[in-house]
Amino acid sequence: MTLKQKAQLVIGTGIIFDVPGSAEAPFEDPLKKVDDATYTDMVRTIRKILPGAAGFTAAFPDIGVTTQVLADGPAGLRISPKREGSNETFFCTAFPIATVLASSWDTKLAEEVGKAMGKEVLEYGGDVLLAPALNIQRDSLCGRNFEYYSEDPLISGKMAAAIVNGVQSNGVGTSIKHFAANNQETNRLSVNTVISERALREIYLRGFEIAVKESQPWTVMSAYNKINEQYASESHDLLTKILRDEWGFEGYVVTDWGAGNDLVKQMQAGNDLIMPGQPHQVESIIEAVESGLLEEKVLDRNIKRILSVMLKTPRYKSYKCSQKPDLGKHAQITRQAATDGIVLLENQNNALPLDSGRTRKVAAFGNASYEFISGGTGSGDVNEAYTISLIEGLKNGGFEPNENLSLTYDQHITKMRQQAGKPKNFITFLLGGKEPVSELEITPEIARKMALENDLAIITIGRNSGEGVDREAIEGDFYLTQKEKQMIRDVSEAFQQQNKKAIVILNIGAPIETVSWRNLPDAILLAWHPGQEAGNSVVDILTGKVTPSGKLAVTFPITYEDCPTASNFPGHAIEGVVDETKDLSGFSMMKRTPWEVIYQEDIFVGYRYYNTFEVPVAYEFGYGLSYTTFDYSEIKLSSYDFKEHVTINLNIKNTGITAGREVVQIYLTSPESQIKKPVMELIQFAKTKLLQPGESEKLTFKISARDLSYFNTERGKWVAEPGEYKVRTGPSSIKVTQTAVFSLHKELKVEDATKHALSPSQKRDSLTCG
Ligand code: BGC
Repeated sequence: MTLKQKAQLVIGTGIIFDVPGSAEAPFEDPLKKVDDATYTDMVRTIRKILPGAAGFTAAFPDIGVTTQVLADGPAGLRISPKREGSNETFFCTAFPIATVLASSWDTKLAEEVGKAMGKEVLEYGGDVLLAPALNIQRDSLCGRNFEYYSEDPLISGKMAAAIVNGVQSNGVGTSIKHFAANNQETNRLSVNTVISERALREIYLRGFEIAVKESQPWTVMSAYNKINEQYASESHDLLTKILRDEWGFEGYVVTDWGAGNDLVKQMQAGNDLIMPGQPHQVESIIEAVESGLLEEKVLDRNIKRILSVMLKTPRYKSYKCSQKPDLGKHAQITRQAATDGIVLLENQNNALPLDSGRTRKVAAFGNASYEFISGGTGSGDVNEAYTISLIEGLKNGGFEPNENLSLTYDQHITKMRQQAGKPKNFITFLLGGKEPVSELEITPEIARKMALENDLAIITIGRNSGEGVDREAIEGDFYLTQKEKQMIRDVSEAFQQQNKKAIVILNIGAPIETVSWRNLPDAILLAWHPGQEAGNSVVDILTGKVTPSGKLAVTFPITYEDCPTASNFPGHAIEGVVDETKDLSGFSMMKRTPWEVIYQEDIFVGYRYYNTFEVPVAYEFGYGLSYTTFDYSEIKLSSYDFKEHVTINLNIKNTGITAGREVVQIYLTSPESQIKKPVMELIQFAKTKLLQPGESEKLTFKISARDLSYFNTERGKWVAEPGEYKVRTGPSSIKVTQTAVFSLHKELKVEDATKHALSPSQKRDSLTCG
C-alpha cells in the first residue's frame, strides 16, 4: 500500500446526512473539496452499498482491499428503509432496548436476539454492527441509558458478551461501545470525566473486560469523553495497555463519530480507525508521517488490525446478501424477548393477570397507549416497518378498546404533531426520530363516563430520550406532570368506584419517580421500550399468556436527589478557564469554558450505594413481581474454605399456581476490612427454565477468586482479602432468603494489572470512596 492508501484506510470515508422527509442538508459533503478522482469515485460508490449505514472504510479493489460497512446499533440495524431508484423497502427489526434485555437477566435470550440482529446485518450487506453499548447507567438522567444495560457491570458485561456472541455467529462483527466511562450526553464530546482508578476498574471498565474476554468483539469503539484529562480515543493506557495487553483484545479500535482531537495521538494510542472521517484528516496523516511526527510502523500496525478484521467480513468473502432477512421470524423473537424483560412493579390484590372472561372493553388513556414508544432516539433508533401500539395489541388479544376515546386521542396526537414541527434535539431531527407530544387532558367526567362504559382502564405513561441530550429532574421528564398524576388519580378512582381496575403501563427507557402516585392504580407494569411488537408483548403479560419474570437491573430511587450522583451530574463548567474544546458537530474545535464531571460517589454506584448506606428506594435493584411464587432452599457450598473456587448449589421451586421463571441473584458480602466496600455485590446470576407449579430446578454457581477481589490501586492488582465471606440470595438485592458463609485464610493476589493506568492527576488524589 502507498502511504496515501494507508492514510485513506485509517480515516473513514465520511458521512452524508439525509434528513428523512426534509430537503435540508445540515452539512456540506466534504468530498466536494477533494480533487483525487479515483478516491472520490470510490467513496461515492461504496456509500451506495448500504444507504443509512453510519460509516464505511476505504476500498482499494486493485490490491484486494474491500470496504467495511459499519452500521448502528444496539436495538437492531439502523439503515435507510428506502433507496434511490427502488420501490422496495428495507426495514429492520426494532428489538427491545438494552434495558429490557438486561431486565430479563437471561443471557441465552440476549444471544438469540443477537443472532437475529446479526442476520439482518449479514443479509442487508453490513460488516460490523455498532453495538452493543454497555456503559454503566451511572445516573437516572443519562439520555442514552436506554441503550445501556444496567447500573451493574456484571450484568452489563454478560449481556454484551451474549449479544456479541449472537451477532458474530453470523460471520459479521460488532463494536462494543463507548469505551469508556461515557455516562452522560451533556458536553459529551469534550467532558473531562474525573474518576478514581479503582472505580474505573471495578465499575466502568469491568463490563468491557468481561465482554472482551468472553466474546472477543471484532471492534471496540472509543468514547467521546476524556478520562482523567485525556480523550479516551487518545489514551494509550486505555486502548493498548488495558484493552490489548491486559485483556487480549485482537480486533481494531474505531473512534466514536468525531471523537478526540489529535490524530497522531489517536494512532499512537492504538485507535486504529477514525470515523466518520474527513478528507483533510487523510492529508494530516500523510503530513504527520512525512514530518516524522508519526512513525509509519505505527500506521502499519493499525492498518494490519483493520485488514485482519476485513479478512473475516462477508464483503471480503463475497457473500451474496439477500436483502431479505426473515423479518417475520425476528418479530416473533422480539415479541418474546420483550415479555421476558417486562417488570411487574405493583399488583394489588392480584389485579393481573386479567380475567379474560370478565374483561373485554378497555378504556386506554395516555398518548403512549396510541403511539407506543418502541425505542429511544438517535443512533440507537431503528427504521422498523411498524410498531404495534397498545391499542392494536389489545385488539389482537381479543379486547375492545373504547372507540370514542381512541378517536379523541388520535385527533389530539395528530394536532399536536402538526404543531410540534421538527424535533428539538438536533440528533433526533437529523436521524428522523419523534418526540412525545403533550398529554390530552382527561376530566373527571370523562373518567367516570369511561368507567361506566368499560371493564378496565389502562393508563400509559410515556417518556422518550436519546442521544445528545440528558434527561432532566423536572415534571414531564423524571417526575410526572400534574396532568399525568391527575389522570392516574381520576381514572383509577372512577374505575375503582365501579369495582373495576386501573392498570398503569410505564413506556419509559429509564427510571422515573413513582412513589407519589404508585398506590393509586391497581397494578403497574414496567414495559420499558419493548421493540416493535410492543402492544403484543404487553398484552401477553396482561393476559397471563406469559408470566412476568423481569427484574430491575437499575434502581428506581424515591426522588432524583436520592441518587448518589445527583450532586455530580452532569458536572460543571471550570470557571475562569477558556480552552480549545470540541464543538458540537465533533468536527472542529472552538474556544470555550471546558466542562468536567467528578465521579465523587466512586465505586458506590446504584445499589452499591443505596444498600450500603441504607438509603430507601422506590424499587430496589433485582426487584420484580410474578404471578407465581418461588421458594429458595437447600443452599450448599462445595467447601467452607476457599481455595481456587467454591461452588454454590441452590434449589428453586415454583410454589404458586401458574408456570413461571425466576431470576436468581447471587450477592457476596466481603469481610470487614480497612478497605471500603459495598455491603454486597452481584457476583453471579441465572434464570430458571419455565417451572410448572410444584416443579423445582437445581442451580449451580461457581465462584472464582476474581469474584472475591477488589482493585488495589497502590499495588495495581486484584486482591482478595482474608476473612469470612457471606453469600446471599433471594428474590431481590434486599430480600435475602438464603445465606451461606465461607472463609479465605490468607490474602490472594488474584491478577496483575498495569499500575497507575489512567490515574487521575495529582490534584485529584483526594478522590476516594464515599
Ligand atoms: C454515537 C455512536 C454511533 C455513531 C454512529 C455517534 O454519535 O455516539 O454510538 O455508533 O454515532 O452513528
